Amino acid sequence: MRGCKMGMTPMLPLLLLVLAAGAGAAASHTSSPSSCPATPPDSGATLQVSHAFGPCSPLGPEAASRRGRVPRPGARTPASSRVGYAPIASGRQLLQTPTYVVRARLGTPAQQLLLAVDTSNDAAWIPCAGCAGCPTSTPFNPAASTSYRPVPCGSPLCAQAPNAACPPNSRACGFSLTYADSSLVAALSQDSLAVAGDVVKAYTFGCLQRATGTAAPPQGLLGLGRGPLSFLSQTKGMYEATFSYCLPGFKSLNFSGTLRLGRKGQPQRIKTTPLLANPHRSSLYYVNMTGIRVGRKVVPIPAAALAFDPATGAGTVLDSGTMFTRLVAPAYVAVRDEVRRRVGGPVSSLGGFDTCFSDPAVKWPAVTLLFDGMRVTLPEENVVIRSTYGTTSCLAMAAAPDGVNTVLNVIASMQQQNHRVLFDVPNGRVGFARERCTAA
Ligand SMILES: *[C@@H]1O[C@H](CO)[C@@H](O)[C@H](O)[C@H]1NC(C)=O
Ligand SMILES: *[C@@H]1O[C@H](CO)[C@@H](O)[C@H](O)[C@H]1NC(C)=O
Repeated sequence: MRGCKMGMTPMLPLLLLVLAAGAGAAASHTSSPSSCPATPPDSGATLQVSHAFGPCSPLGPEAASRRGRVPRPGARTPASSRVGYAPIASGRQLLQTPTYVVRARLGTPAQQLLLAVDTSNDAAWIPCAGCAGCPTSTPFNPAASTSYRPVPCGSPLCAQAPNAACPPNSRACGFSLTYADSSLVAALSQDSLAVAGDVVKAYTFGCLQRATGTAAPPQGLLGLGRGPLSFLSQTKGMYEATFSYCLPGFKSLNFSGTLRLGRKGQPQRIKTTPLLANPHRSSLYYVNMTGIRVGRKVVPIPAAALAFDPATGAGTVLDSGTMFTRLVAPAYVAVRDEVRRRVGGPVSSLGGFDTCFSDPAVKWPAVTLLFDGMRVTLPEENVVIRSTYGTTSCLAMAAAPDGVNTVLNVIASMQQQNHRVLFDVPNGRVGFARERCTAA
């Protein structure tokens, strides 16, 4: 199941419609510091730190490139106090992909990249020079990096890669995986990766060589899953498998969200729910969702639609790499019916959404997700998607797609925006707190 991406594809036509405005402003903010967005306001130490050493550093591009070459003198810092910050931006605006991205630097000298913040994948990949079918204009060029190494076939790392293969005329370990409707072929590789100001030496990733399918990613992927080979596993000594993020609204043009890595600086007083582990889908962050309220009413959902079952993969996961929440059909129908009843008036559908209203004055109820030990009340901005043209607004959720994910509830990025979401793997918990990180 590894590498199996939860369906976002059916939503794309609607997204293009809804988000058409603003997409024109999507420039490549990554390649040249002259196109860096304005520095976000002084809303907290987090952003100051990120930007001070980012490619859009107010200290100027030299500061950023010096930073890329000289690893932070971190050897004396005890692992337990390590902390890293990286600004997060909406990939929708930068790259027309429904993901969130952070900036990273790979190789020696450092090459700039964007990596998707994806909590449902372990294996990281990066589009590499010469990749057939990779829709990227700025691939990573391994030949220009003195610290790049292919991982040899006999290496134990090779055994951890999904569908590892060693072609007869090559000594380098190759692997393949599927992502949304794309298949990707990569060479398992290592190089120095700098994210959030820290350098991870010999970071293991897939150097993409071939991509097929319409959803081939234009950016790399930072695997924040929980399984082996993930960024989290590779940086365990540094960040202790702990991170949190705040995802800005997907129309946000700025790198105004934050990825915070490490135990230090994480919220202490935050509502949490236990993490559940499924050995068959070890990357995924399963939690125990026990019910859903629409307004004050707990909607009638059969227990089986929410139950965790490692054998079938059923249950609920948090995923930053899927855009809209998908609920197992009976759960979705219960939520949708109550929303329709509360809102009243004629219902229409638009793209993949079936609960839309054209009256601009409709009043939407809040939706509360009930987890074991934690309640998350989503305000309208996390529940409703509005069409840019016209006055139509839709419930930004859908029924789970057919196939392997039919039994899986996916709490997706739209529903997590403007919240601090904490993933505390050593203590087996996930936390949620409201935090506004969309630039005004
Ligand atoms: C966000 O970026 C845009 C485009 O670069 C800029 O015009 C705007 O002032 C920025 N907003 C904030 C709050 O920094
Ligand atoms: C989920 O939470 C409910 C209510 O607290 C509990 O009865 C159930 O055992 C939990 N399920 C799992 C898999 O932990």
